[in-house]
Amino acid sequence: MQIARTVSDIRSEVAHYRAAGESVGLVTTMGALHEGHMALIAAARAAHDRVVATIFVNPTQFGEAADLEAYPRTEARDIAMLEEAGADAVLIPEASEIYPEGDETIVETTRLADMHHGRTRPGHFRGVTTVVARLFNIVGPDAAYFGEKDYQQIAVIRRMARDLHFPLEVRGVPTVRAEDGLALSSRNARLSPEDRAAAPVLKRALDAGRAVALPGTRIEDIAQTIRETVAEEPRARLEGLDLVDPMTFLPATGPFETPVGIMISARFGRGDDAVLLIDQMEIAP
Ligand code: PAF
Repeated sequence: MQIARTVSDIRSEVAHYRAAGESVGLVTTMGALHEGHMALIAAARAAHDRVVATIFVNPTQFGEAADLEAYPRTEARDIAMLEEAGADAVLIPEASEIYPEGDETIVETTRLADMHHGRTRPGHFRGVTTVVARLFNIVGPDAAYFGEKDYQQIAVIRRMARDLHFPLEVRGVPTVRAEDGLALSSRNARLSPEDRAAAPVLKRALDAGRAVALPGTRIEDIAQTIRETVAEEPRARLEGLDLVDPMTFLPATGPFETPVGIMISARFGRGDDAVLLIDQMEIAP
């Protein structure tokens, strides 16, 4: 596997693939890789001649410096995992490579970025679209792969790719879960053992919501069931619960008659060490 640290190195690597007529799949990550990322690599591997990954803890998508600081960095292990999974190349740039001196350009979806998770993390999705647009331009893949756990993130990236005419496909890969249902996330490593044991409440709450969601059930009743399930776990502090139209991301209301995307987020732990986890489920009547 080629390890590139600069834009020009990864570009010349990809140029070799293109010269040989090969297709390229891209998996962007912030490192601290786990089986969820490996599922993205596997999906790209299955569809393309070449797989390029990126590892970059993107500073512009973190609101709090403490959160950026605390983000796990496990480069040697990540490289070994990517190699094992069959990636052909990885870009591991310094921030100055992605955000050159004097940088002043941002990419933003003006409506989607301010809704739901964007409300509680102002500027987060602007940071995501800004870095992903740059990574798309740097690598120039045929398709890019993202985990469905980050439900709103994929929607934002899809919208950006469509609006800016990026010549690539944005593909979602189903969430990978631990045996107890917890969605795999790099943040899980920061949970105390007690919070790790409590965290599967998010999946239980989504399952409970799905269980009561019969055609015609009031959306508010589905939401209430989810809230009550989270409330049964004293270590979880519900931060966001949004039931939305999967196409527009506008709030779903009235009776359950068309598909609904459920996005949930909760904090585990206290103070600066509190870990924000998210999960999602799409349900259809
Ligand atoms: O999902 C992530 O890990 C990040 O938001 C991404 C897409 C790599 C952008 O930094």
